Amino acid sequence: MNKRTDDDLIIKVENLKKVYKINKRGKGLPGHLANLFKPSFTKKKAVDGIDFQIRRGDAVGFIGANGAGKSTTIKMLCGILSPTEGRLEALGFNPHKQRKQYVAAIGAVFGQKSQLAWDLPIIDSFELLQKVYRIPQKRYEENLKQFTDLLDMESFLEQPVRQLSLGQKMRAEIAASLLHSPELVFLDEPTIGLDVVAKERIREFLRYMNRELGVTLIFTTHDMQDIEKTCDRLIIIDEGKKIYDGTVTGIKEHFGSERKLIAQFDEECPVDEIEHVTISEKKNGVKEFLFESGHVSMTELIQELFEKYKVNDLTVREPEIEEIVRGIYEKGGVL
Ligand SMILES: Nc1ncnc2c1ncn2[C@@H]1O[C@H](COP(=O)(O)OP(=O)(O)O)[C@@H](O)[C@H]1O
Ligand SMILES: [Mg+2]
Repeated sequence: MNKRTDDDLIIKVENLKKVYKINKRGKGLPGHLANLFKPSFTKKKAVDGIDFQIRRGDAVGFIGANGAGKSTTIKMLCGILSPTEGRLEALGFNPHKQRKQYVAAIGAVFGQKSQLAWDLPIIDSFELLQKVYRIPQKRYEENLKQFTDLLDMESFLEQPVRQLSLGQKMRAEIAASLLHSPELVFLDEPTIGLDVVAKERIREFLRYMNRELGVTLIFTTHDMQDIEKTCDRLIIIDEGKKIYDGTVTGIKEHFGSERKLIAQFDEECPVDEIEHVTISEKKNGVKEFLFESGHVSMTELIQELFEKYKVNDLTVREPEIEEIVRGIYEKGGVL
């Protein structure tokens, strides 16, 4: 994998659209027969005219609610789906039309589509992939060693996928898709369904690949924390349209500014009023502090609480993606 040397555009997307044709089949045999002669379709606009460009070495997170069009976009970028309309160029290829050459140059991780054989030890699947991608022995060994360390896979390399936890499986999938040292990597919801520790390990790995090895990363998630910890740039999609494209700090400053801090104090500990903060009392010494990030700094509030009171436990609740999307619409959008 090359060190980041230049910042040329490696992905160019213009007015990208995908309309799914859904076969509206009638019920039972009559419906089936009718459909054979006169199929009827409804259409679903999944991606509705998206534009963006991506530079070599970028780490970009696509975020959006369920059904927003993230997976469809990523599938078009990977060449799995053909666009209905628009222009799409990646690494100088037309991903769908030049799929064979293109796929050799990228890495792709899709939750539903595994690169690993269900019944074979992980390490055997890796060796098969080495042959498929014709990875030179030295590079294969170096990558395998590095990924095994970074993703902490040593203990389960000899086990088949069917015996792995979801987190272990996802780590193995990610390693599998990177063995051939692609410079551009796509991941669709790499942290979905994982516990906090597994999520964190994957985020750290992705950050390392991007920052240290210069791999261009594009991934989808509906977890704002994934984006914050891994990406510099974030693209928000809603109903097939791009509604934000910019920095992660930008979005947090302008939209979704409501913050909540949940703190647990010793029982019966009174807390003084704090300007711009709504404090509400919960059970067992728990209090909630609600405020706008523009008025109150989370760090300063936490400091103040620790200085004045005995705090037993603290949780910071960041805005969910749905709240941020709502915030964007309420303020008329940013584009
Ligand atoms: N193969 C398909 N056929 C028909 N509709 C689809 C298909 N795949 C996705 N859709 C629809 O397209 C929209 C976008 O889906 P998707 O790209 O999977 O969203 P996301 O990944 O953001 O959850 C949704 O309304 C979904 O139901
Ligand atoms: Mg999806």
